[in-house]
Amino acid sequence: MRDRGIRETRVSVGNGLFVTFEGGEGAGKSTQIRLLADALRERGRTVLTTREPGGSPGAEAVRHVLLSGAAQEFGVRMEAILFAAARSDHVEEIIRPALLKGAVVICDRFMDSSRVYQGVTGNLELPFIEALERVAVNGVIPDCTIIFDLPASLGLERVRRRASAAEAPAGQEVELDRFEKEELETHEKRREAFLDIAAADPKRCHVVDASAAASDIAAAVLAIVEPLLPRSGGGGPDTEAAQ
Ligand code: TMP
Repeated sequence: MRDRGIRETRVSVGNGLFVTFEGGEGAGKSTQIRLLADALRERGRTVLTTREPGGSPGAEAVRHVLLSGAAQEFGVRMEAILFAAARSDHVEEIIRPALLKGAVVICDRFMDSSRVYQGVTGNLELPFIEALERVAVNGVIPDCTIIFDLPASLGLERVRRRASAAEAPAGQEVELDRFEKEELETHEKRREAFLDIAAADPKRCHVVDASAAASDIAAAVLAIVEPLLPRSGGGGPDTEAAQ
């Protein structure tokens, strides 16, 4: 991702704050999103938590196609376009309206995941990724992106442990999703690519050590986000997008 800076055209979206959480597999993003949302609600903020791929009914329909691997045989270009289609729907149906109402929107993965998974490890050329990103986000660029950094081996170990505890009947193989199944080397490349994005855009991106204790990570995340909060609490329903 070095020297692959994507030009971002940001539009002003109401009085809200748009925060995205990014990183490799098993980095603990979901737990930290919940902790951040709780902390902000305690401070009287209106918070919407959401995720990608998905977050709106249309995007959730595409999520299954992508994560089951059903689109894999049609190639990474096709997958990238599907991620972008899902993102566009999510932005226009859920994220932009919430920001316009003044909410803090916290999204589990967003455009940086496409830059890394489809762009860097999918080997898609930058102008193609850039064009899809421009159309999909349509000016809705995160105000703040927290990158959860973790050795890929540790992240994958966590994913496998979690999946076996939650899903696999005794003695059976755990079913990982299409991206979790890839080689360790690919996951390490993604870690590097996320760090490169952070280095190229230090104003937007903040790296946290995802191997630390959950409470320490939560404190670090809050210390990054709190100073960015707009003055007033914002309106609209305090809610979670369709998941
Ligand atoms: P998750 O819900 O476990 O994070 O799974 C989402 C998977 O989809 C994860 O492996 C990363 C992948 N992904 C992409 O490849 N590109 C994208 O743009 C997004 C949002 C996710």
